[in-house]
Amino acid sequence: MHLSRRGLLYGTAGVGAVSLAGCGVGESPNQLTGYTGIAMPTTTSDRWVVEGADLEARLKDLGYKTILEYGEDDIPTQIQQIQAMVDKGVEFLIVGAIGNTSLGEVLGNAKDKGVTVISYDRLILDTPDVDYYASFDNYQVGVLQAKHIIKQLGLSSDTTETYNIELFSGSLDDNNSQYFFQGGLDTLETYIYGGSVVIPSGQTEQEPTATERWDRTIARDRMAELLDTYYKDEPLHAVLSPYDGISRGIVEALVEADYEPGTADFPVVTGQDAELLSLKAIKNNTGQTETVFKDTRLLAGVAVEMVKTIVDGSTPEVNDRGTYDNGFKFIPSFLLPPVDVTVENYQEVVVDSGYVTEDAIDNAPPDEG
Ligand code: GAL
Repeated sequence: MHLSRRGLLYGTAGVGAVSLAGCGVGESPNQLTGYTGIAMPTTTSDRWVVEGADLEARLKDLGYKTILEYGEDDIPTQIQQIQAMVDKGVEFLIVGAIGNTSLGEVLGNAKDKGVTVISYDRLILDTPDVDYYASFDNYQVGVLQAKHIIKQLGLSSDTTETYNIELFSGSLDDNNSQYFFQGGLDTLETYIYGGSVVIPSGQTEQEPTATERWDRTIARDRMAELLDTYYKDEPLHAVLSPYDGISRGIVEALVEADYEPGTADFPVVTGQDAELLSLKAIKNNTGQTETVFKDTRLLAGVAVEMVKTIVDGSTPEVNDRGTYDNGFKFIPSFLLPPVDVTVENYQEVVVDSGYVTEDAIDNAPPDEG
């Protein structure tokens, strides 16, 4: 039973770990043993790189060994990496999934060996073998993005003008996408029904607005096509974008279509993740004007605390048991609050808190490709 105190569950030759199972009653070594496997989705986005290193450092501080791998947005690669971790004898898996329904078999193998599985940031679906979910209030992310648009356009119940908006959503096989999108859409809904917000493309569902693998160039190309098809004679006022990489693709297409960043005619573009390049654009008013910061330091802390708590023989603290149904069960979740970031508060939220430096923002290297 994976919630009870336990040490290495199976002989991991060469690990040199001490099994907690060998401890007598009353003895509390309070020391973690064995390995935790950390499977992150990609290095193309700042956050996962920072988090992988952060998770490793926190676990190592507790005396735990780690295996950290990046799947580089390729599902078979991530499955192989997780299988290798299971073969190596990990006790815990912290997984930021690439495809939300593709890990059933490998997690089944993990579960056969008693591994505890923590779904990290993204919920893994269609398998009974997920034990915990550490994430943010993903619906609220979309709410904050839509609220930024409402504020910037000055929308209210008295608005008589009509504003043109386009919607973007994330990868269809990332469970978070639907939460971001729904939060945004629900928040804009009264203005859409009231007629002050119009979506000229008519693309208001998740599928036509999706961006496979959250890819910037896919978003750029879709934005270029929308501009070409619907905005030859119409102004575009805002774009609901779920993630900074996508936002920068959108901005690129807007600039190519002669919209000028920093001017009143430049559409409001939202974002998420407080990536350096996006913070730079927010600071200098050269593109998107908002991002949603999810403090990944807190998230890494939650995941590591889950591991530690289980090793210490207790049950991890969760604060939500009824939101995230993965197709088999509601996964006990710990959800953190996302924070809206604009030019007014970026310094306080991400610089003063030590998440990034002003220097790193100023010197953020340009997007590749
Ligand atoms: C989502 C995640 C976002 C963003 C996106 C692209 O799953 O919640 O914060 O990172 O993936 O990587």
